[in-house]
Amino acid sequence: MRLIRVNNYEEVSERAAMMIAAQIQLKPDAVLGLATGSSPVGTYQRLVAWHRAGKLDFSQIKTVNLDEYVGLDGTDPQSYRYFMEDNLFSHVNIAKENTFVPNGKADDPAAECAWYDANMERLGGVDLQLLGIGNNGHIGFNEPADFFTVETHLVDLKESTIQANARFFDSPDDVPRQAVTMGTGGIMKAAKVLLIAAGKEKAELIERAFAGQVTPQIPATILKLHADCTVIYCGD
Ligand code: GLP
Repeated sequence: MRLIRVNNYEEVSERAAMMIAAQIQLKPDAVLGLATGSSPVGTYQRLVAWHRAGKLDFSQIKTVNLDEYVGLDGTDPQSYRYFMEDNLFSHVNIAKENTFVPNGKADDPAAECAWYDANMERLGGVDLQLLGIGNNGHIGFNEPADFFTVETHLVDLKESTIQANARFFDSPDDVPRQAVTMGTGGIMKAAKVLLIAAGKEKAELIERAFAGQVTPQIPATILKLHADCTVIYCGD
């Protein structure tokens, strides 16, 4: 695991975008695992700018997102599908049918989860997985627990996550209580992992978590076992 502490959010975003751009150059039909939240916004802005400048071609790229709120469909501005369209997909030449986000409105969530994992296999696996980290150490929506869940699954969100994500909603009551998330197995199967984070609290969490033991109580610590994981963060 490489921990790279940089000076500010701009540097986090620049370095992360360069790694993703390099992946696209190396393998124009790569499968990118993508994340939502505030952390990757600057990264996506750079990818969009480089695409507009003619430097990045997404025409053969496929994407699989980490997670989605249960009960929100892709037209809901709080959904992660909407976030991806708004921040990346609608601004680059990616084919919509090559973009995958778990379906938060599936009638049969268990079948949706099984399909999501099978689809990742069908695509040939993720080449580069981008991640943020929650204040409680979650990755995707893999919340602190007594064990790691390997497969894509339905999860009850922790109160800490509901409070942290309430800033994107009118009130904490509007935050969905459940989500569908790729499991830690799906994340660990990616050939490369890139975790980004910004802010004093996140920087302290990262330095404490990755200096310690692997524990499902801090789900991100599983990344210590990944063969090619880069963490780019700042305390700003
Ligand atoms: C959400 C997402 C995570 C993300 C986390 C951190 O809970 N499910 O994938 O990493 O938020 O978000 P932020 O980058 O806004 O701090």
